[in-house]
Amino acid sequence: MGVEIRSCASVEEVRQAITPIGYYFGRSAPAENQAERLIRTLPAERVYAAWEGDRAVGGLGAFPFRLTVPGGRVPAAGITVAGVLPTHRRRGLLRAMMRALLDACHQGGEPVAYLWATEDTIYGRFGFGLASFTAEIDLPRERAAFHAPLATCGHVRLVSPGAAEEYVSPIYERVASATPGMFERSSAWWQNRTLADPDWRRGSGGELQCAILEDEGRPAAYALYRMNWALERSLQSGAVAVIEALAESPQATGAIWRYLLDIDWMARVRASLLPLDHPLLLLLAEPRRLGFGLRDGVWVRLIDARAALSARSYRPQGSVVIEVADEFCPWNAGRWRVGCDSVDRTDAAPALRCDVSALGSVYLGGFTWTRLARALRVQELVSGAVAHADAIFQATSAPWCPEIF
Ligand SMILES: CC(C)(COP(=O)(O)OP(=O)(O)OC[C@H]1O[C@@H](n2cnc3c(N)ncnc32)[C@H](O)[C@@H]1OP(=O)(O)O)[C@@H](O)C(=O)NCCC(=O)NCCS
Repeated sequence: MGVEIRSCASVEEVRQAITPIGYYFGRSAPAENQAERLIRTLPAERVYAAWEGDRAVGGLGAFPFRLTVPGGRVPAAGITVAGVLPTHRRRGLLRAMMRALLDACHQGGEPVAYLWATEDTIYGRFGFGLASFTAEIDLPRERAAFHAPLATCGHVRLVSPGAAEEYVSPIYERVASATPGMFERSSAWWQNRTLADPDWRRGSGGELQCAILEDEGRPAAYALYRMNWALERSLQSGAVAVIEALAESPQATGAIWRYLLDIDWMARVRASLLPLDHPLLLLLAEPRRLGFGLRDGVWVRLIDARAALSARSYRPQGSVVIEVADEFCPWNAGRWRVGCDSVDRTDAAPALRCDVSALGSVYLGGFTWTRLARALRVQELVSGAVAHADAIFQATSAPWCPEIF
C-alpha cells in the first residue's frame, strides 16, 4: 500500500500522528487527553503524518513559536513529535514529511525552524546546524556553599502550579525576551505544558512544585521542581530535580538557587538544560562539584535565509559576503551580504563559503565563525574574513532553551 503525506484535520488524526513517536516511549497509543491537550498549542494543520490508508505510520509537527534571536524575535517553527514506526523506517518518510513541513513554513512566512534532536545524526542532512550546547548538573548538597555569603533578598513562598501562571509568566517573559533560544509562552502553553503535571510526565518523580521568590512585594524569581525522595540504609538519598529556575536579577538568581540547594532531606540537586554560562558556575565555592556535563542543545535551520538573517542584529562592523550552499532548500543558495544595515543577495566575491547548517550554528550566537572554521565547517576565502564575521555576528550571552519541546 502506498503512503501519502498530508497534514491532520482533526484531533483524532493528531492522535494517530503522535502514535509513532509514542511507540518509542513504550506506549502503543497516546495517553488519555494527550492529543486534546497538544492541539491547544500545536494546531492540527501543523501536524504532518505519513498515512498508509487511514493509519499514520509517521508524524512530524511544528509549534508556531516566536523565537528570541540576538536583538529581536522571529516567527519560528518548533519541530516536534518526529517519529516513524520501526516497520516503516528508512524509506524516506521523515524526509517527505520534512519536505512538506518546511515548504509550508516557507510559504507561510516562518523563516526559521528549530528543534531538539534525539540523535545528532538525524537533522544535519535537512540543513539544521547545532546552535547551542546545554548543560546538566548533579551536585551533592553538602558541597553547595556559595563563594561568599548571600545578601538577603526577599522571601520564598510555595504556590500550587495550577495558580502559578500569574506570578511566573511575567518573569519568564522578561528573561525570554532577552535570551536567544527562548520562545514566547502563551497561556495555553503554561496551562497545558509547563504547569501541567499529568502522571505520565512524572516518571518516578514527585509532584510538580512551584516556589516564588518575592522581593519588595513582587515576584523576582521562580523555581519549578520535583522532590524525588529516597532512602538508602536509613540515610536520605533523594534529589531535588530542578525543572526550571528563572530570575530577573543576579541577586534573585542567587536567592532562588540558595533556596533549592538548602532543602532538607535531599542529598543532591539535579538540573538539566542549563545554558553554558549559567551563573551557578561562579556562584559556587566549588564549581567542580556541579558535575557540569554537556550535550547538544537546540538545532537551527534557516528556512528563508534573507528573512531569518534580517531578523537578528549585528555589530556595526561593516559587512561580509557569504556563499551559502543549501541542498534541501535551494532557494537559499547563493551569495549573501550580511551586515547591520541590511542583508541582501549580491554578486560580489564571497569572503566565506559554508553550508546553510553553519548559518544555523552561528544564528543564535552559540558558536563563532572561528569555532566553525577550526572544525572545517566554513571556508575562509579572504584572509581575516572569519575574524571580521565574528566581529559582525558577536553576541553577548550563550543561547538558552530551558525546555525540550
Ligand atoms: C528518526 C526517524 C524519525 C527517521 O525516520 P525515517 O523515515 O527512517 O527517516 P528517512 O527514511 O526519511 O531518512 C532520511 C535520512 O536520514 C537517515 N536517518 C534517519 N534516521 C537516522 C538515525 N536515527 N541515525 C542516522 N541516520 C538516520 C536515513 O538513513 C536517511 O539517509 P539518506 O538521506 O542518506 O538516505 C525514525 O528513525 C524514528 O522514528 N526514530 C525514533 C524516534 C526518533 O528518534 N525521533 C526523532 C525525535 S527528535
